[in-house]
Amino acid sequence: MTELARIGISLESELLKEFDRLIAEEGYPTRSEAIKLLINSALVKKRWQKSNNQVAGAIIFIYNHHKRQLVNKMMDVQHDFNKLIISVQHIHLDHNNCMETVVVSGKVKDILSLVTSVKTIKGIKHSDLIMTTAG
Ligand code: NI
Repeated sequence: MTELARIGISLESELLKEFDRLIAEEGYPTRSEAIKLLINSALVKKRWQKSNNQVAGAIIFIYNHHKRQLVNKMMDVQHDFNKLIISVQHIHLDHNNCMETVVVSGKVKDILSLVTSVKTIKGIKHSDLIMTTAG
């Protein structure tokens, strides 16, 4: 069995309260278990990003379509990365906001480079990436 090491962590009390709420909501048995799982998932993600496997994923982002500069920039970026993009779904969320889901397939580093290019467009309200692989 692996030897256990003990650590002490200092947190702002408000952050700890929020963390305890998260633990309760997510059903982690203890703080230690929650921290262990969170560290593990960060490590898996990091390892995954360092590999150069063929993966698939979806990038989701929200933006205000009245910002024409942003929309143009978005088109430019998508054309720059056309070889990675399988499909783009555009949904008009409300009067101002659009949601786009860009389904991609390719090497991890190319996908991350596309994500960075999208994320750094000024005015993007939210973006997220879901990465997956067939094995
Ligand atoms: Ni729209």
